[in-house]
Amino acid sequence: MLNFAFERGAVSASAWWALIPPGLAIVWIVLGTTLLGTAMEEAFNPKLRRHYLEADEMAAVAELEPIGVTPVPVTGPNAPILSVRDLTIEFDSPSGPLRAVDGVSFDLRRGQTLGLVGESGSGKTTAVMGLLRLLPPGGRVVRGSVVFDGEDLLTLGADRLRALRWSRLSIVFQGAMNALNPVRTVGDQISEALRTHEQALTRREVQARTGELLRRVGIGASRGSEYPHTFSGGMRQRAMIALALACRPDVIIADEPTTALDVMIQTQILELLVGLAREFGMGTIIVTHDLGVVAQVCDRVIVMYGGQVAEDADVTTIYGAPRHPYTQLLLKAFPNVEEVDRTLRSIPGTPPRLDALPPGCRFAPRCPFAFERCAVEVPPPYVQDGASAHRAACFLVETDG
Ligand SMILES: Nc1ncnc2c1ncn2[C@@H]1O[C@H](COP(=O)(O)OP(=O)(O)OP(=O)(O)O)[C@@H](O)[C@H]1O
Ligand code: SF4
Ligand SMILES: [Mg+2]
Repeated sequence: MLNFAFERGAVSASAWWALIPPGLAIVWIVLGTTLLGTAMEEAFNPKLRRHYLEADEMAAVAELEPIGVTPVPVTGPNAPILSVRDLTIEFDSPSGPLRAVDGVSFDLRRGQTLGLVGESGSGKTTAVMGLLRLLPPGGRVVRGSVVFDGEDLLTLGADRLRALRWSRLSIVFQGAMNALNPVRTVGDQISEALRTHEQALTRREVQARTGELLRRVGIGASRGSEYPHTFSGGMRQRAMIALALACRPDVIIADEPTTALDVMIQTQILELLVGLAREFGMGTIIVTHDLGVVAQVCDRVIVMYGGQVAEDADVTTIYGAPRHPYTQLLLKAFPNVEEVDRTLRSIPGTPPRLDALPPGCRFAPRCPFAFERCAVEVPPPYVQDGASAHRAACFLVETDG
């Protein structure tokens, strides 16, 4: 129609108004098609509605056995924000259930940064996913409790759990940067999280908070209007950190959040995350292979081996006076925290297979100090100094005092 009007000299004959109806028709068709496409995407693409913290299926929590010998969580005004007791997780397998996490207990306080370390397969990811009830199908918590601010996450209803995740408990995964929605701008995704979980905020406040968050993670508020594909990997991971911090959660869990990134910016991003988390008074759990990062940013360290806690102490004790032979070998395998390449070198032998766990101490087949008792008895978590300040599951602690 436009072509027809032009060819007949509508403009030169001062009949320019003849262009308006076809022009408007084109605009309406384009707008209508775009709106229809967006509506269909919203209706049929569940990824746009579901946050990545919502597992496809709520992780199964089996009938929970009562807590055994481990102490019950501390309550009262100085209570930790997160108290994990005797967390035990199994996966189904053709040969029967495999216990990937066995009796893990720890406390996390506000403003504290806890490092979870151990070789590949030691159960770090399973433990943190299990405590958030984000286990993949086939995995389930079979025992324990996870008390978050007075409520046991393992027995909460699905709606209550969904409300807590993200707004009060947040997680950044290794591949989190790929979890950004590619068809929404980065700023829009942060604003949406704020609008959903902090409904009292006005539109202007949401905009201001989004800009401030982007600025704090070093992206700049002006880039909030861009789509994720225009960001580098490091920037996308920063955006994910902004997203995870958006609702100022009480606890933030970061599972190898920088492994996929250039080694030069890994520490920078972790320091940023931990710095902001401390500033906001959050409790932080960092899962990593990088003992250099742990030394730099963590207050307390949990060393896992074969699904169990081998040692648990404050960072100075872990590096200065480790008691468990596994921790000692881990530190030797990681000679210098100042090196650029700070990934773990191997410890002789291989981690235990879940379907063939040694009957006694799980580290016995690789331990240079193993003696007869280690092969038949499971060492309990010996507590030193009469407090829960330093635990090490090794018979030598009992012998040496
Ligand atoms: N979906 C699953 N099904 C069966 N077994 C699983 C599943 N996920 C993890 N496991 C097993 O649980 C154990 C712990 O795995 P997990 O991923 O928690 O270790 P990790 O310490 O996080 O290792 P990495 O450092 O490599 O990330 C491993 O033996 C693994 O094979
Ligand atoms: S209990 Fe025995 S095998 Fe286990 S770490 Fe201690 S000395 Fe080694
Ligand atoms: Mg892992």
